[in-house]
Amino acid sequence: MTHSTERQSIHIFINGRQHQISGDDAFLPLAQYLRLKADLPGTKVVCAEGDCGACTALVAKWNKNNWSAFQTLNSCIAPVYLFDLASVVTVEGLTFEDELNEVQTKMQQFHGGQCGYCTPGMVCALSGLAESCSKSGQQITEKKARNHLTGNLCRCTGYEPILNAAINVDLTKWISLAERYLTTSNKEVCLQLAADSIAIQGTNKELHVPTELAKALTLKKQSPGIRIVSGATDLGVLHNKGKFFLDKVLVLNRIPELSKLEMNAQTIEVGAGVSLTQFENFTENHHAELSRLLRVFASPQIKNQGTLAGNVLNGSPIGDSIPALLVLNAQLNLASTQGQRQVPLTSFYKAYKTFDLMPDEIATHISVPLLDKSWLTKYYKVSLRKDLDISAVTFAAAIKLKDGLITEARIALGGVGPTVVRMPEIEKMLTGQAMTEALFKTAGQKARALIKPLSDLRATDEYRLKVVENLFHKFFIEYRNENETAVSSSEEQAYVGR
Ligand SMILES: Cc1cc2nc3c(=O)[nH]c(=O)nc-3n(C[C@H](O)[C@H](O)[C@H](O)COP(=O)(O)OP(=O)(O)OC[C@H]3O[C@@H](n4cnc5c(N)ncnc54)[C@H](O)[C@@H]3O)c2cc1C
Ligand code: FES
Ligand code: FES
Repeated sequence: MTHSTERQSIHIFINGRQHQISGDDAFLPLAQYLRLKADLPGTKVVCAEGDCGACTALVAKWNKNNWSAFQTLNSCIAPVYLFDLASVVTVEGLTFEDELNEVQTKMQQFHGGQCGYCTPGMVCALSGLAESCSKSGQQITEKKARNHLTGNLCRCTGYEPILNAAINVDLTKWISLAERYLTTSNKEVCLQLAADSIAIQGTNKELHVPTELAKALTLKKQSPGIRIVSGATDLGVLHNKGKFFLDKVLVLNRIPELSKLEMNAQTIEVGAGVSLTQFENFTENHHAELSRLLRVFASPQIKNQGTLAGNVLNGSPIGDSIPALLVLNAQLNLASTQGQRQVPLTSFYKAYKTFDLMPDEIATHISVPLLDKSWLTKYYKVSLRKDLDISAVTFAAAIKLKDGLITEARIALGGVGPTVVRMPEIEKMLTGQAMTEALFKTAGQKARALIKPLSDLRATDEYRLKVVENLFHKFFIEYRNENETAVSSSEEQAYVGR
């Protein structure tokens, strides 16, 4: 029989053992708690900003009345208070009966480590891959290992021995972490505690983890300055860098309706608690171009923890999901004690980090309408590295075609000003025209004249202008390549719609 009460502590299972964490400890980054309070110093902290993977741990989160599968995350930026009822496995928890696990054995055999700083993170990341491949009956391929390790940097060994270790993992020898750690007895403890809301007071800090939306809205109304922390992949970095003090925190991850992810009448409804990984997997079947974009978003550790809502509400001019959401005419659903309202994302961003969002409002979900087959959509991210890098420029285009003519055009650009922007002048110019190379070259040149990007560490203004111009051309070239059979030899010939 469960009962609902207000707790003053977070309960986490670490390597199977229950920890009850209260006061200031609940506000620590998980890595610091592991190292300093739980006596588990195998987890390393190197960059403390989610970029290197040394702090990788495995977490099975509690959702409604069960745990998710184990996934990797960067424990250096994620505060303890995000993990109530979660089961965490650290590098110390990977060994079984004092024997190295199969990943650790192969890392040793193939000389996958030298200084060892990255090694605990590598081993945890590869154990996460082994766990999911073993569950789904797949092999660990080099491609899978490469993709899975985009968030793990090694400065000395080089990746070849690490990849060799990965592809030589014998999954018949894999001992399931879920079977070892997601035990019936621990689940019973969670079921007893699951209905509780949480309120914790630390030194000059307070935390609220409500289990009902109405309670969250009341808290936001009473304390408009309270900060919503979702995955903390933006906020945790700012906090660690001392740019931001998370003193009053509201966590929404125990409110069931915010974790919905479903398709209604050609619209994907994405709850504010839905992780980028969940969204990426879901879009694979519904909007492959969006899924493709998310593949080059951050790293698995960040996507397992960060949310789509966090990306939208962080509102960075280089937030990677935003241009795509703008051309899909996505809507943000906001709630307060006064009721609910829908804001088109196209009018949400007012100026740099200034939004159409009232202090007492909470984002509940994002509605992402899908386009039918008469639309051509492409989303580009231009960054210095392919993986785990911040964009210099982002570009999204959705073009509706009928008999080779553009009947509607939507273009959005990021990294070219204080917010991501739609380009109405270009959209108007494209509408009613035939798909030609000349048209898109002219559109690129015209776009240059309409934007004023900045120069910063990532790119100069001139570079950004050139990239924007080139992306219009790239869009057309890709369209042409995909429709070669419908194309005549003349470059200027109109192309028949796909
Ligand atoms: C190493 C690294 C790599 C990254 N790579 C990328 C990348 O490739 N592309 C990219 O775009 N971003 C990237 N990011 C940024 C970040 O991961 C994303 O912006 C992510 O989507 C943020 O989600 P979150 O849940 O962690 O947000 P949080 O950090 O928890 O919150 C972000 C903001 O959203 C607000 N917020 C969250 N939920 C709500 C809600 N329900 N209602 C109202 N406000 C809310 C918070 O108050 C905060 O202001 C990266 C970050 C790191 C550390
Ligand atoms: S210490 Fe580098 S990602 Fe956490
Ligand atoms: S072994 Fe030294 S950083 Fe990888």
